[in-house]
Amino acid sequence: MDRKIKLGVFGFGCVGQGLYTVLHQTRGINAEIKRICIKHPEKKRPIDARFFTTSRDEILNDPEIDVVVELIDEVDAAFEIVSSALKRKKAVVSANKKMIAENFEALLHLQREYNTPFLYEASCCASIPVIRNLEEYYDNDLLTSVEGILNGSTNYILTHIFEHGQTFDKALKDAQELGYAESDPSLDVKALDPKYKLLIILVHAFGIILKPDEIFNYGIQNLKDADIRYAREKNASIKLVAKCRKTENKVIAYCMPRFVPLSDTLNKVANEYNGLLLEGAFSEHQFFMGKGAGGNPTGSAVLSDISALTYQYRYEYKKLSQHLNYSFTQDVSLELYVSYNGHVSPDPDDFEGISVKHEAPGFNYMIGKINLARLKQCSWLWDESVNIVLTENNP
Ligand SMILES: NC(=O)c1ccc[n+]([C@@H]2O[C@H](COP(=O)([O-])OP(=O)(O)OC[C@H]3O[C@@H](n4cnc5c(N)ncnc54)[C@H](OP(=O)(O)O)[C@@H]3O)[C@@H](O)[C@H]2O)c1
Repeated sequence: MDRKIKLGVFGFGCVGQGLYTVLHQTRGINAEIKRICIKHPEKKRPIDARFFTTSRDEILNDPEIDVVVELIDEVDAAFEIVSSALKRKKAVVSANKKMIAENFEALLHLQREYNTPFLYEASCCASIPVIRNLEEYYDNDLLTSVEGILNGSTNYILTHIFEHGQTFDKALKDAQELGYAESDPSLDVKALDPKYKLLIILVHAFGIILKPDEIFNYGIQNLKDADIRYAREKNASIKLVAKCRKTENKVIAYCMPRFVPLSDTLNKVANEYNGLLLEGAFSEHQFFMGKGAGGNPTGSAVLSDISALTYQYRYEYKKLSQHLNYSFTQDVSLELYVSYNGHVSPDPDDFEGISVKHEAPGFNYMIGKINLARLKQCSWLWDESVNIVLTENNP
């Protein structure tokens, strides 16, 4: 496109302001923001009031606006905005993983029906270009596994607990103040945010579309001092890890805290950084690391999508069109550390085998193997006196 492309932006919070900053410091991209739709007109803004509106239609019905950039923190409103834009054949860029993961089929259908591109690189690992890599670079490699730390906020919290001896609450408060946490921090802490990202990765890595409740997620909300001491004694830290792995034509996926040896590559991923380990039959192991949260890093990924639209880039959903016929399964045995304080204890019958059982006043734990499908049904799991962490020995 020779003329300047005109952007209609929804949201001017952490990421919206990041996009504004990054766009104004980047030469070589022929784009400008025409209008920004926000929710609270009374808020003080750092840029000229002429940009702002509270009317969606001022953007959606403006024939001059080529690209709609959706950067709000609401899901239903975001889906409505994105759907309306695609129906008007306006290309869309979004960072909203929850909205995308919950509505994937519908969004795919809209892109195809209206033949209009929808890009969402920033939704996965903010500044790490994971989706385009999975689409383009790994389109023909026999990818076997993608795992990583996909949530900057919990990684910041865990780093500050393990490396700086901070309390959970103080580390969470700092992560929120620095703009790394979601507006609703339970999305981070309960591992929903990395699960949404894993759902998006599953489509681009293995051509599998799932609903959020199909994937097991367990966060760091029940992490106790005793678990932290246990990890330290074993020369490990705890990281919140999302993983999908293919064996023959079956794919497993889950999102859980895991003990990570101090020497492990994933342990190098600190603070708000995200890290992604990819394994392919021919490319073998590769490691990507970059900032997984924050206004400017996320704004930079949004800008990269806007730039890609200027040369007509769109996702071809290559793994879907290759008809790989991989099927999702939860029939996999996982080795877990389970700590409990005695009021509620795990049912040994849920386990395929228990290799360690330790009982001491105030600190009990066991290590055992359990089937992932069975784990999802265990009610003891959700008592706040219980905590689970994957051991290092897992598929
Ligand atoms: N923060 C990160 O590091 C990060 C990283 C990757 C992806 N993301 C994703 O990026 C999106 C934005 O996150 P954020 O951190 O920038 O959120 P934020 O700081 O809370 O800002 C949200 C913005 O959305 C606006 N808004 C909310 N509902 C709206 C509606 N119905 N119509 C118009 N505007 C509306 C708000 O308007 P007011 O200003 O008027 O309140 C605000 O400007 C989310 O989907 C998030 O998951 C964030």
